[in-house]
Amino acid sequence: MAVNDIKRLAVFTSGGDAPGMNAAIRAVVRTAIYHDLHVYGIMHGYEGMIGGDLKRLEKSDVGNILQRGGTILKTARSQAFRTKEGRQEAFEVLSEQGIDACVCIGGNGTYTGAKIFSEEHPVKMIGVPGTIDNDIYGTDFTIGFDTAVNTALEAVDRIRDTADSHSRIFFIEVMGRHTGYIALNTGIGSGAGDIFLPEIHNSINYLVKRLKQANRRKKLFNLIIVAEGDTDGNAQAVANRIKEELPEFDSKVTILGHLQRGGAPSAIDRVLASRLGYSAVNALLKGENKVAVGLVKNEVVLTSFEDAISKQKELDADLIEMARILAL
Ligand code: F6P
Repeated sequence: MAVNDIKRLAVFTSGGDAPGMNAAIRAVVRTAIYHDLHVYGIMHGYEGMIGGDLKRLEKSDVGNILQRGGTILKTARSQAFRTKEGRQEAFEVLSEQGIDACVCIGGNGTYTGAKIFSEEHPVKMIGVPGTIDNDIYGTDFTIGFDTAVNTALEAVDRIRDTADSHSRIFFIEVMGRHTGYIALNTGIGSGAGDIFLPEIHNSINYLVKRLKQANRRKKLFNLIIVAEGDTDGNAQAVANRIKEELPEFDSKVTILGHLQRGGAPSAIDRVLASRLGYSAVNALLKGENKVAVGLVKNEVVLTSFEDAISKQKELDADLIEMARILAL
């Protein structure tokens, strides 16, 4: 039974989609119904909240979705919700439906919107970290990250076959926005020769030195993973710089792009999404507000929106060092 005054709950996904979002939606809906709440799904994130695009969800509406990529509620990046007027319209929509609380599944942008909205209006908001980037403070892993890394790894393994056959260097660009979580894990998992991370500057000189050494040793050195947010530039820019320094190397560039966001969620993402969706509803029912759920050392924890948005989750320096040593 609900232990506070929440009667009607809405759930939505916002920002970039991530594999496992559907598993989180299912967990939210079923946990809420178990506690006798009415549940609504808001379509297209904050855009649908403003436009009144929402529908009642029953247990059966979230059947057969856990294993599917994308989000059945669709998603968007809303400009209108950044304005006070947009948020006022959204509040009027929620009030008309009697919605007291929302579970917001997304990344930093989603949390920022939820924080401002819950400060302006009497609607409880709780965040669930859904993004392939794994860049959210307050959780060791975000929903979708594990699947995205597995997808990238499968692609990189395939590229290795052709790179190896032609003795070519491939510069492979992966997503991650301003952070290197996907790049670092894809690099370690694929045994890449080098990994360009936004968190580490001036990687080019180090790579040039190592390519020269590798050339002397006749070592096959063919996979370089570049995070899209790398400060040395994207994969094409890094490849161009290497070409200038070492014109004798035959190189190609592959941008993995949005294929990293699609596909069925991994077992890890399905379980993570189920745990976090379930925990989000339980936390709301205990009276929590303006917080996000996360998993730290395999325990569910709550972090204020304030901290989740403003604090930086650092890449593990030991992992970076290990990746370099293992690639020698
Ligand atoms: O945040 C997820 C993400 O896939 C980032 O890795 C990437 O930079 C961005 O979204 C791409 O966004 P869009 O699909 O809007 O181009």
